[in-house]
Amino acid sequence: MQWFEAGAMKILTVVGARPNFMKAAPIIAAIKEHNGRLLADSADRPEPQVETIRHILVHTGQHYDDLMSGSFFSDLSLPKPDIHLGVGSGSHAAQTAEIMKKFEEVLLGEKPDVVVVVGDVNSTLACALVTSKISFDSDGSRPVIAHVEAGLRSFDRSMPEEVNRILTDHVSDLLFVTEESGVQNLRNEGASLDKIYFVGNTMIDSLLNFKEKAEASTILEKLALVRQAGKNGGANSVTRYALLTLHRPSNVDNRDVFLNIITGLEELATDCPVVFPVHPRTRRRIREFGFEFGLGGSASKHKGNAQGSGNWRDGIILTDPLGYLDFLCLMKHASLVVTDSGGIQEETTILGIPCVTVRENTERPVTVESGTNTIAGTKTDTIRGAIRRQLGRKRENGVPKNWDGRAAARIIDTLVRRHYEKTSSRPALIPHAVPLEDRCPSP
Ligand code: UD1
Repeated sequence: MQWFEAGAMKILTVVGARPNFMKAAPIIAAIKEHNGRLLADSADRPEPQVETIRHILVHTGQHYDDLMSGSFFSDLSLPKPDIHLGVGSGSHAAQTAEIMKKFEEVLLGEKPDVVVVVGDVNSTLACALVTSKISFDSDGSRPVIAHVEAGLRSFDRSMPEEVNRILTDHVSDLLFVTEESGVQNLRNEGASLDKIYFVGNTMIDSLLNFKEKAEASTILEKLALVRQAGKNGGANSVTRYALLTLHRPSNVDNRDVFLNIITGLEELATDCPVVFPVHPRTRRRIREFGFEFGLGGSASKHKGNAQGSGNWRDGIILTDPLGYLDFLCLMKHASLVVTDSGGIQEETTILGIPCVTVRENTERPVTVESGTNTIAGTKTDTIRGAIRRQLGRKRENGVPKNWDGRAAARIIDTLVRRHYEKTSSRPALIPHAVPLEDRCPSP
């Protein structure tokens, strides 16, 4: 076995908005696992003094509702944040600036060795930017910036997330990539190969870890999506249904675009119930635009059939935003998912559920190439056509390279090794969880 000793390392991880939590949880778990392994291995050694990783979790408060944040901490067994910045909502500029001001104070107080930022939300960019310019001493020393989910590109700069992705990557020191397109994009933008690590997808680490636990969710019963077995016995069965999420400003802030999209869902909603957990932004727009959907939260209200009797909008079941395990359970059992989210394209790929993405592009091409995703655009006809095609598709299980549940272990291995190379002159102690040759594909 190969051993390395790293001096004490302090890692600070930033989370802020809903899609960050499932990406960060496996990293925190991998640190715990690393420390546990280190302590167990050191128990038999003559000099049992070992340096475990110290970890600080910072929540910016970009998302703050229990439904958008709190419930994810319990579902994903995340520790309570050590520091909460309590920033809340605001314009992009106000929110980003507020996070930056408060995060600078945290950095100066904590002086971590590494700052880990995940994904592409405003909190990601704000904290990476602050870290890139901080200086702890007259030598200008600052933490290493590690970006998890680096290199994804939609090539659409009107998306705030695309701007966040590009800028975060360009100020980061370590670029942890989820799919091969990310390596290529970073190389095209001039990133040097020694910064890039193709580790896989920590969001998929969470999915694989919690897939079984999600089966205990009672959301299908709550939404009346379970058909009881008849008197003659047999098992209860899940009603055929589709799952919908929409929250991108470009889709829901413009009445015409939003209307095009929901009209594209009309045929689907007469065929089977469409469960629609509604993001706060989308909820506001539905009210503002006077769009009326069935509000009962129960599939038993679904009157539709293939001929389309009844009001199709009754076939859309609105719910509040759901927790991680409830949503995972709903994804697993859906016949089809329609979404404008990035992460859901990846999760449906691993679950083998056909996915229709209502956007003009994706920054996650592997979900189309080897997954179950199709890009439908936002026009009524193209959405309707994509839904028909995807409903006829067999469920299949594409597994992109390195989406194997070990991404976070690779990240921690890499951080420990880099820290060791920087700080230690002695041989020693840390067994690598993952062969380093797996970390990056050949350029
Ligand atoms: C943010 C991310 C987006 C991610 C999404 C997931 C950016 C630029 N965007 O978008 O990439 O896909 O999170 O949800 O960072 N609100 C609440 N409760 C909350 C949080 C927000 O009611 O806990 C409301 C606020 O009124 C706010 C609106 O939702 O104005 C939007 O929240 P915001 O954080 O600005 O962006 P998201 O659209 O959620």
